[in-house]
Amino acid sequence: MDIETFQMERMQCLYENEVEYNLSESGVQPMSVAELMAGQDLDALLSMGLGYPHSNGSHALRERVAAFYPGATPENVTVMNGGSEVNHIVLWTLLEPPHRLAFMVPNYMQGWGLGRHYGGGSDVFHLVVRGSDDGRHWALDVDELRRAVTDRTSVILVTNPNNPTGAVLTEQEMAGVVEVAREADAWLVADEIYRGAELDGRTTPTFWGSYDKLIVTSGLSKAFALPGLRLGWAVAPPELIERLWIHHDYTTLTPAMLSDRLAAIAMDPPRRERILARTRGIIRRNLPALEEWVHGHPGVLEYVPPAAGAIAYLGYDLPIGSSDLVDRIRVEQSVLVVPGEQFGMEKYLRIGFGSEPDYLRKGLERISETLRQIG
Ligand SMILES: Cc1ncc(COP(=O)(O)O)c(C=O)c1O
Repeated sequence: MDIETFQMERMQCLYENEVEYNLSESGVQPMSVAELMAGQDLDALLSMGLGYPHSNGSHALRERVAAFYPGATPENVTVMNGGSEVNHIVLWTLLEPPHRLAFMVPNYMQGWGLGRHYGGGSDVFHLVVRGSDDGRHWALDVDELRRAVTDRTSVILVTNPNNPTGAVLTEQEMAGVVEVAREADAWLVADEIYRGAELDGRTTPTFWGSYDKLIVTSGLSKAFALPGLRLGWAVAPPELIERLWIHHDYTTLTPAMLSDRLAAIAMDPPRRERILARTRGIIRRNLPALEEWVHGHPGVLEYVPPAAGAIAYLGYDLPIGSSDLVDRIRVEQSVLVVPGEQFGMEKYLRIGFGSEPDYLRKGLERISETLRQIG
């Protein structure tokens, strides 16, 4: 059975290494192995045998992952190759036609495609801009969520903090999501891969512990700045961990040995907090340059400040669709950003600002050139 092309991932694969300025990334500058291993026993790592690790991840790693979720134990954790494999296996396990997925938009659209592939389809509900002038923020339309969930809905998926808006749900919004899931007796999947990358330094509360049919999906690629380890995890009730394992045996079997070991180092609580502090430091350092640039385009760019993540989702008022605009920016300026269309919402651009400041500034200046030509 065919599956639709995952447009954003395909666009990034095609062009991210071709352009001079890649501002399509949603993470911060990755950590080096040396940075991660500082103060660690390098010899122990080098003498490690590269055999198969435990299917669900080593006990040491699962213990440290569990410690990031109050009330979780290693039995609640399974480890796979990146957040994307985790989301895939979770939705493969939970969805079956005619049952449908209720899916938050804008979002990383992997879940939306999988809801259509493995389930009876995907029904969207939106984050919307509320407030005015300086007080603008993204908020969840809980009434729309209620309408999107029907007796056919078996899974609800939210991403919190959100990609691409950088929005963080309020406690009331989180409670609203749980209430809707409980009323529908649906599984709730909370993709929390940006948790820990908050600008104000307050780690977003996890959904873990708020409902019994809950799965948190996450990993090291975003807030932890280690995407190259390709390491993700699910936190779920042990019965569901068993069902995920059955499916994982048909894909990659285990995480990579080296990644498992390095991930256990990264998730040691004091180090984990230092890594998150590094990420937040990069975001706080770079955001003023992005804001100054946005404010240099009054009437063209609409800014709603992100609360987390090195990503800004900018509305624009220009007579051109987002995919065409991104193509022009890429072809004319050799800069890659992501069109709103690839997050399920038109007339927006997502700009990643987690790179080196000088690189970011030059990339943004080039985008200005195309905006001026069109505007
Ligand atoms: C919300 C969200 N979940 C999952 C992923 C995939 O993560 P990974 O690179 O760990 O597979 C991404 C990547 O952009 C993402 O934005």
